[in-house]
Amino acid sequence: MRTPPSVVRTVKDLRTFVENERAKGKRIGLVPTMGALHHGHLSLVDHISGHVDVPIVSIFVNPSQFGEGEDFETYPRNEQADLEKLATTNARLVYAPGVEEMYPPGDSTKVSVQGISEKYEGAARPGHFDGVATVVSKLLLQCLPDAAVFGEKDYQQLAVIRQFVRDLGIPCSILGAPIVRENDGLAASSRNVYLSPEARKVAGKFNLVLRALVKSVLSGVDVRTAEFEATQSLLAAGFETVDYVSVVDPVSLQPLGTFESAARVLAVARLESVRLLDNMAIEAPDT
Ligand code: PAF
Repeated sequence: MRTPPSVVRTVKDLRTFVENERAKGKRIGLVPTMGALHHGHLSLVDHISGHVDVPIVSIFVNPSQFGEGEDFETYPRNEQADLEKLATTNARLVYAPGVEEMYPPGDSTKVSVQGISEKYEGAARPGHFDGVATVVSKLLLQCLPDAAVFGEKDYQQLAVIRQFVRDLGIPCSILGAPIVRENDGLAASSRNVYLSPEARKVAGKFNLVLRALVKSVLSGVDVRTAEFEATQSLLAAGFETVDYVSVVDPVSLQPLGTFESAARVLAVARLESVRLLDNMAIEAPDT
């Protein structure tokens, strides 16, 4: 194990570190997280290490992306455990600001992305993507990395981030990293710890249902029928409710009526009140 990365808590110290590394000709990468790190996050550090010289991990549980009644207060926080996990990676620095560093007194600016952030998670969690877009804009401008990486697990989040980075002309490459899955295929998530052992077993069927949907669509089953069948399969598997199963355009996230080119299926189902998200690519048919 390497020594844990050092921690800075202010924009000033972050910039000093970045400037020193830049002066040595190094490329900087940022891995934004809210802590509670699991192997999915560590894979993001591995992913960005292939693109930059100096990976920096930010840890900040961002209050503005949690709605009322959501788990902001109880969101798992354990900086020491996170630092020990990061000691097994190439992360060189951890940026762990306090709330006042990110939202100084009098802060009144919000980044809001129209269209793409309004459906799916945006509809289920009003204001969530404004909070994400605002904090990620701040992180990118504070650190000014050459690249930043986000997991494809939160596929709509990745699409929203790509959109505002393009719209605002932020000079940073946004990389998407493949979903990391547990042995039974459940997408790794900090919220999986909320599931009881029984619910955890059911959760492992989520990806199987999505795989079956992808297969059906590729074999020519009509998109609406495939979505309906996947919803029924999730309920039959023991999920309590299904918020959505939707085959969409992979960039605009507009629902597709028919499958003609590359698509993505986005899905959310609930178990014991935990909202589980998953998604899968549906590759373009050979022409
Ligand atoms: O995906 C997350 O962990 C968060 O939404 C992010 C991107 C770190 C912003 O707070």
